[in-house]
Amino acid sequence: MIKRDLVSILDIRDDFNEIVNLGLKLKRSRYQTNPVVEGRSMGMIFEKSSTRTRVSLETAMYQLGGNALYLNPSDMQMGRGETVEDTSRVLSGMLDIITYRAFDHANVVKLAKFSSVPVINALDDKEHPLQMIADFMTIAEKIGSFQGKKFSYVGDGNNMVNSLVLTCAMTGMDISIGTPKKHAPDQSFIDEARKIAKQTGSKVALTDNPAEAVESADIIYTDVWVSMGEEKQREEKERDLKPFQVNSQLVKNAKKDYIFMHCLPAHKGLEVTEEVCESINSVIFQEAENRLHSAKAAIVYLLSH
Ligand code: CP
Ligand code: NVA
Repeated sequence: MIKRDLVSILDIRDDFNEIVNLGLKLKRSRYQTNPVVEGRSMGMIFEKSSTRTRVSLETAMYQLGGNALYLNPSDMQMGRGETVEDTSRVLSGMLDIITYRAFDHANVVKLAKFSSVPVINALDDKEHPLQMIADFMTIAEKIGSFQGKKFSYVGDGNNMVNSLVLTCAMTGMDISIGTPKKHAPDQSFIDEARKIAKQTGSKVALTDNPAEAVESADIIYTDVWVSMGEEKQREEKERDLKPFQVNSQLVKNAKKDYIFMHCLPAHKGLEVTEEVCESINSVIFQEAENRLHSAKAAIVYLLSH
C-alpha cells in the first residue's frame, strides 16, 4: 500500500466529499474505537501554539483507540539541529502517523517526503487542510450542499484563504474574496483554484471592496489579521485591514440566513465584532467541535488508504 499524506487539501481532492461524510458519520459514534486506529500511535510536532488542532488530534486518537504524543521541537533534538529528513525517518520507524504544525511549508513537504507513514499538515504558512474538513462538515450540516452556494471570505489573504479557495473550487462553491490589494492571497493558489473551478463550474472572484465580497453571501468567513509568525506586520495589517472588519453593517449585504464562520481564535473588535460572533448566524463553536470529528475522518482515511 502506498502511503497517503495530507500536506495540501489537493492531496485529498478526489475523496474530499467522502472524507466530509466520514466525519459526519463518526460524529454520530463519538466514543467508538476504530480497528484501523486501535493500537496505533500519532506523533504531533508543533512549532506553533494550538488549542483546537492539538486537542482535536489527541482526543481523536484516544477515542479511536490509539494514542498521541505531543512533540515540542524545543524539547526534541530537532531544536538542537537534527534535520527534518533524519527526524522524519526516525519517527516513521516508530510511529504510524505524524502531524506537523510548522512555520515553513517546505519543511512539511520534506517531512512527508522522508516519512514512510502518513504525514498531516496541522497548519503552516501556506495551508490548513484539516480545518477544511471541519468547515465543509459544518456547511453540509447548516446549508446542505456546496454547489452554486456563495462563500465570502473577508480579511487577510493568508494560509486559510489559500486552502479555502482550493476547497471551494473543488466542491463547486462560488467564492468571493475581499482583501486589500496589498494583502491579496497568493496568486498561485488563485490560479490553481481557477483551473479546478473550470471543471467544477464554480467561480473565483477577488475584490478590494468588502461589501461587494459579501453581497448575497450564504457564508461569511474571516480569520485573524496577524497570523502566527507574522507578528512584525501587526501595525501595518491592523491599519490596512480595518475597513475589512466583519461587523453588523457589513453582514447586511449577505443573505438574511447567511452563516458566519471563523477557524478561531477570534480577535473580537479587530477582524470581527463580538455582535457578529454571538449572533444567531454564527456557527463558530459547531465549526470548532467539528475539528474533533474531522480529525478522526482524516486519520481513519489516511490509515486505511
Ligand atoms: N483553528 C485552529 O487551527 O486553531 P488552533 O490554532 O487553536 O489549533
Ligand atoms: N491564519 C491563522 C490561523 C490560525 C488557526 C494563523 O496562521 O495563525
